[in-house]
This record gives sequence, C-alpha cells and structure tokens, in this order.
Amino acid sequence: MRRAKITIIGAGNVGATCAHWCAAGELGDVVLLDVPQTENMPKGKALDLMQASPIMGFDSRLVGSTDYADTANSDVVVITAGIARKPGMSRDDLLSTNAKIVSSVALQVKATSPNAVVIVVSNPLDAMVQRAFQVLGFPSNRVIGQAGVLDTARFRAFLAMELNVSVEDISAMLMGGHGDTMVPIASCTSVGGIPVTQLIKPERLAEIVQRTRDGGAEIVSLLKTGSAYYAPAAATAQMVEAVVRDKKRLLPVAALCNAEYGVGGYYVGVPVILGSNGVEKIVELSLTDSEKAAFQKSVDAVKSLVATMEQLLAAA
Ligand code: NAI
Ligand code: 2OP
Repeated sequence: MRRAKITIIGAGNVGATCAHWCAAGELGDVVLLDVPQTENMPKGKALDLMQASPIMGFDSRLVGSTDYADTANSDVVVITAGIARKPGMSRDDLLSTNAKIVSSVALQVKATSPNAVVIVVSNPLDAMVQRAFQVLGFPSNRVIGQAGVLDTARFRAFLAMELNVSVEDISAMLMGGHGDTMVPIASCTSVGGIPVTQLIKPERLAEIVQRTRDGGAEIVSLLKTGSAYYAPAAATAQMVEAVVRDKKRLLPVAALCNAEYGVGGYYVGVPVILGSNGVEKIVELSLTDSEKAAFQKSVDAVKSLVATMEQLLAAA
C-alpha cells in the first residue's frame, strides 16, 4: 500500500515540529519545504529527523526541499509559512505579510498537488484559510484551518490541571475564530461524562475560559522570541492523521460555513467530521442564546478581519 505523502510548507518551529509528530506517528512520508533563502535548512531538519527514525523506530521517509517539484501529488499539504507572532504583536498585525505569503504558497500548491487536502495553520488563521481557499479554488471540504484542536487542547489541559484528573477524561468543544472571541461551549465540556459545570464553579470556569482565550499570548510572553509550536504542531498532526487514516474524527476545525450556523461564506471554527475527504460534515449544535450571541460576535470579528485583509491585498 502506498504511504500517504504529507507536505509541510514552512520548516520553522510549527512546521518542523509537525514533521516530527507526523513522522513519529508513521502518518506517511513527509516533505518539509521552505523558501530558497533558507538554503539547506529544511534539508538539514529533515535529515536530522530521518536519523532519529532508527532510534525511535518509525518508518516514515523525510525529505527537506525548497523546490515544489518535490511536493508533487501530496495527499495532505500543511501551510505554516509566514512570520510568527512576537511579543506586543497581535495576530492581526500579521495580516498583510502573511496574506501575501499564503497567496503565493497556495498558487504553488494548486499547481503541484491539485488533489490534496490543505490544512492552513498560518496566522491570523481565519483570514489565512479564507485566502488559501480563494487562491486554491479547491472544493471547500479540502481546505481547512487548524485552530480549534489547539484551543480545545489548551482548555482541556487547564481543566485537567484544575481538577487534577487525566487529560484523557476531558472532552471539550470550542467554536468561532482563533482569537479573543473564541467560544467555549460549556454544554459540550465534560469530565468523565460529568458536565464541567457540576465540578467547577462558574466564576472559576470563567477564569479558565479566559486563560484559554489568552493561551497563545501567554506562551508568546514566556518565550519572547516567537509563539507556541509544540501544541500547535500536535494539533495539526492530529488533523493530518484524521485525513490520512480516514478516522472520521469529530473535531473543531475552521471550515467554510455557508448556511451552517447562518455564517454566509466564511471560515470559522465549528465541529466537523474529518476524514479522507477533509470535512465530511459540519455538525450543527443547538446553542444556548448566550452561546449563539458569543458565536455571532466571533463570526463578526472574522468577517471584519477578512474585509481588512481584502482591502490590504487590493491596495498592495
Ligand atoms: P517560524 O518563523 O518558526 O516559521 C515560519 C517559516 O515559514 C520560516 O521558516 C519561514 O522561512 C517560512 N516561510 C516564510 N515565507 C515562506 C514562503 N513563502 N514559503 C515557504 N515558507 C515560508 O514560525 P512558526 O512559529 O513556525 O509559525 C508559523 C505560522 O503559524 C505563523 O504565522 C504563526 O503565527 C502560525 N501559528 C498558528 C497557530 C494556529 O493555531 N493556527 C499556532 C501557532 C502558530
Ligand atoms: C497560538 O495560539 C500563535 O496562534 C498561535 O499560540
């Protein structure tokens, strides 16, 4: 059986760490690509990871490259290319530079891997995935963004720390954009099947929700030289796995919503079933009035971000 071919564009912190998780999990063979100016950096990282394989016992092949020819006919393409958030910089500050980078990357992916499922990671995520979709021209089920898996993982980790229970027993759902307006869905958050609201008082839960919203900024303020990458890369690898193994995972993913949730043609974080075709179904939850209002606020923030991106691109 042919192994899946996974291309990761951007061999920086998130890209290289994602290559590590994908290879270690034997999800497929991995091509790690970066710009020619990096010279042989992606080759060095791929070779280093390849040399770890006999020790860790994984059989994935890793290739580093600056040439899209090496990525041809990938089954999954992950886009992490761009600049990362630095202290004092909001995700939105990244908008103009990363929109141009993602546009150029998407054009190359369209030409070289026309049948791939594309997972966008570059920030600001909700605008970058919309931009990739516009340039790629692929069906929307094959263009998705990673944010919710990371944000729910942060929420789950904080809940496990609070309750001193295994992370494995915590199940959670978050919706909306990858930003300050993300919406934790309390009714879908449980610990060993027990609603979280029975275990944590509302005021404390609100603090944990806020820490989750600020999760990316908290890491930036600690690292000082860049943004989070272990958890983002693990989240992305989980999405790659759902696709290459046709797992039909129910995960929060940035997906193009038209009629769904009344969004009207924007990428926002929603629960989806993720399998070999990418988004196989967008799952519509019945939200409480306050969840609906918070989701709408988040969708409005995404719309405004996309509008700003389109103005910046038109002016460039
Ligand atoms: P990084 O700076 O370590 O790596 C970015 C890499 O992209 C660099 O190696 C750079 O040379 C490369 N690159 C730039 N332009 C390129 C192009 N045109 N083609 C190919 N490669 C190109 O940054 P890091 O930490 O890996 O973050 C990458 C992106 O992911 C950032 O935009 C960051 O904000 C975003 N991010 C998103 C998360 C999410 O949950 N959606 C979480 C964490 C990061
Ligand atoms: C994060 O949430 C920077 O989006 C990135 O860590």
